[in-house]
Amino acid sequence: MRTQVGIIGSGPSGLLLSQLLHLHGIESAILERQSREHVEGRIRAGVLEQGTVELLRQAGVHERMEREGIVHEGFSLVFNGRLSRINMHGLTGSSVMVYGQTEVTKDLIAARLSAGGIIEYEAPAVAVEGFLDGQPRIIYEKNGQRHELICDFVAGCDGYHGVARRSVDPGKLQLFEKIYPFGWLGILSDVPPVDEELIYANHERGFALCSMRSHTRSRYYVQCELDDSVDNWSDDAFWDELRRRLPPHVAERVVTGPRLEMSIAPLRSFVAEPMRFGNLFLAGDAAHIVPPTGAKGLNLAASDIFYLSRALVAYYGEKRTDLLDRYSETCLRRVWKAIRFSWWFTSLMHRFGDDPLNHRLQMAELDYLAGSTAARTAMAENYVGLPFETFE
Ligand code: FAD
Ligand code: PHB
Repeated sequence: MRTQVGIIGSGPSGLLLSQLLHLHGIESAILERQSREHVEGRIRAGVLEQGTVELLRQAGVHERMEREGIVHEGFSLVFNGRLSRINMHGLTGSSVMVYGQTEVTKDLIAARLSAGGIIEYEAPAVAVEGFLDGQPRIIYEKNGQRHELICDFVAGCDGYHGVARRSVDPGKLQLFEKIYPFGWLGILSDVPPVDEELIYANHERGFALCSMRSHTRSRYYVQCELDDSVDNWSDDAFWDELRRRLPPHVAERVVTGPRLEMSIAPLRSFVAEPMRFGNLFLAGDAAHIVPPTGAKGLNLAASDIFYLSRALVAYYGEKRTDLLDRYSETCLRRVWKAIRFSWWFTSLMHRFGDDPLNHRLQMAELDYLAGSTAARTAMAENYVGLPFETFE
């Protein structure tokens, strides 16, 4: 098989890239290890920055998002049993959209397939070759047979465990990694959310987050031990633990129900530099991971694709290579700011062992946030998403 841009991975980054390229007349093919049902069933992120929403609009996949997505103009922080609202819209003029990654993925898959786009499911890439010699190709398997996808460029959109980053000479990669000493236990349930907005709670038993997917579907998380297992948690045990970590007047409003899904996510900060190697470009989780506290993972994937799609459009339309040359540096500037924000927010809200000094510092910082418009503005500006750089 031959195409212009070979894409590994049909998560949000691979799909969005394929769709944006298609709208500019550039051909691509996506190879995906899993089945379509598996990809469409994965429960992940839920908060879209305005820049991501705008990019999805440009990609023409906005109809259902605009109908079903919920605009949020603020969120709350809870500490010492008190609630402090961050008025994102009032402080920055921007808001975020609550619309699940699962839905974004379904919309993008439907758009690609209805336009005749190629997505090969159950077709794992096993290696990327020739990307430093101008002859890139992806070796992949389908129905037990080995195949080659020959292309001009390869986009490694295959997540943290993918093959694209692993195809690069380790001596050419610089890796930065921090693994946090806890995880998030999450539940998805068809019950109305406890509040109209998200609530992030710092509690002595550990962090808790009240989120949602719609007015009738809630997503809640509690900080858990790294070696915990969902088998240790009944639905009732989860709801009890969540309520314990919320102020009483919030806890009493929690509506409980059976789980649709329950899972544990580890928390990690990770960056691989650079993000380009000859004709191979890494994007999204393949290049960087943030802990979910700042709701940045999916949004960073979208900003990488914004820069990569522009660079490829400039290459095919005007034979320009300067944007391809600047891809890694431009992405990484934004990536590191999101890594910093997610690390900061994670450090502020979680229980780190029994360190009393750490706890006092958290309370002082939360109290400062509650009392300072400048501090809240800085937080809101990062939460709604830093702007994309644009080029002439
Ligand atoms: P992915 O969505 O990981 O997509 C990569 C795709 O590549 C996958 O479909 C995978 O099957 C495929 N693939 C991998 N290897 C190969 C191969 N060799 N050949 C072919 N295909 C391959 N972010 C938040 O902001 N909030 C959250 O609550 C949140 N929760 C998360 C929970 C989990 C369990 C995980 C893993 C991530 C979560 N994230 C969250 C992060 C967010 O979902 C990611 O940042 C986002 O999915 C990145 O998109 P992506 O397309 O780059 O990667
Ligand atoms: C979610 O709804 O899954 C979610 C929302 C906000 C976060 C993380 C996860 O910061």
